Amino acid sequence: MPVTILGIESSCDETSAAIMVDGVLRANVIAGQAVHEQYGGVVPELASRAHQANIVPVVEVALKKAGITLRDISAIAFTQGPGLLGALMVGTAYAKGLSLALGVPLIAVHHMQAHILAHFIEEPRPAFPFLCLTVSGGHTQIVQVKSPSDMHILGQTIDDAAGEAFDKCAKMLGLPYPGGPFIDSNAQLGDATKFQFGEPKIPGLDFSFSGFKTSVLYFLQAEMRKDPTFIERNVHDLSAAIQHGIVEILLRKLKRASQETGIKTIAIAGGVSANSGLRKQLQALGEKQGWSVHIPDFSYCTDNAAMIAMTGHFKYAAGDFVDLSVVPLARIPEL
Ligand code: KG4
Ligand code: ZN
Repeated sequence: MPVTILGIESSCDETSAAIMVDGVLRANVIAGQAVHEQYGGVVPELASRAHQANIVPVVEVALKKAGITLRDISAIAFTQGPGLLGALMVGTAYAKGLSLALGVPLIAVHHMQAHILAHFIEEPRPAFPFLCLTVSGGHTQIVQVKSPSDMHILGQTIDDAAGEAFDKCAKMLGLPYPGGPFIDSNAQLGDATKFQFGEPKIPGLDFSFSGFKTSVLYFLQAEMRKDPTFIERNVHDLSAAIQHGIVEILLRKLKRASQETGIKTIAIAGGVSANSGLRKQLQALGEKQGWSVHIPDFSYCTDNAAMIAMTGHFKYAAGDFVDLSVVPLARIPEL
């Protein structure tokens, strides 16, 4: 009997379902939520309602794409957290109900662990142990990954996440939400050396982005007082400089983590790993340092259920199941 995992992701503003059969991805369906755009950020209540409307059709499409029916499912893996509680509740309740109806085991997945294990969906897979820079809208961590179930956070942000820094700076430039991809596309037309912003002095392997963000804000306010068209005229160079600044902060700590641990297999994960500047600069740094660099395919950078099904596959093999008393958790500090 093949092991067929249904993965469910609903931690933020993407409703996603994936089917994995014996570790091979057969479908990965993602429904986004355009409703948040007009508010300049994810509105939790609207996210929950959209998940509620999307979850059944998204699973149906995933099953159809994979060419299977509900009866073929061996286990259901769902995102337990971290994320928006109301959003997580929809995926959790759906997974619990379906597991009860089908009489199949339930697997609770840590969203950040899943971002890292997305590297195992396709070749080439990183060899253990490796370091993973996990950069998303809510997290920025350097994780030492010893096995699919043994991960340890070496450093993390003490304030904003890298994705948040991208999004907040994008807002200052008048770009739509989420701003990360817009900074990225504008940066490709700009010169990163035209402007420079403050660098944090944080000891160890932790990160900080709040000082950087404030230095961008003060700079823009001062320039806009002199010339109200400043942002409009310089949006490409400003985007390039902001992107370069954030990427530099990330890579400096990643290099340090590699030096301290002696680990030279390096991966990136999470929404910000879709950033073209980060991908390019990491590749270049990796060549210089003699690293084996693992950069995920774009489709597995931002939130998706393929990574939840992948994690479910590992947990199924380990017999790591939960019962129906499981509840979603907005925060889970450890991996
Ligand atoms: O992992 P993710 O989809 O959701 C969370 O778990 O948070 O990450 C979303 C974050 C957002 O802040 C978004 O702006 C950022 O990833 N992001 C990017 C890019 N694509 C997505 N940031 C910079 N450049 C990109 N190309
Ligand atoms: Zn995520």
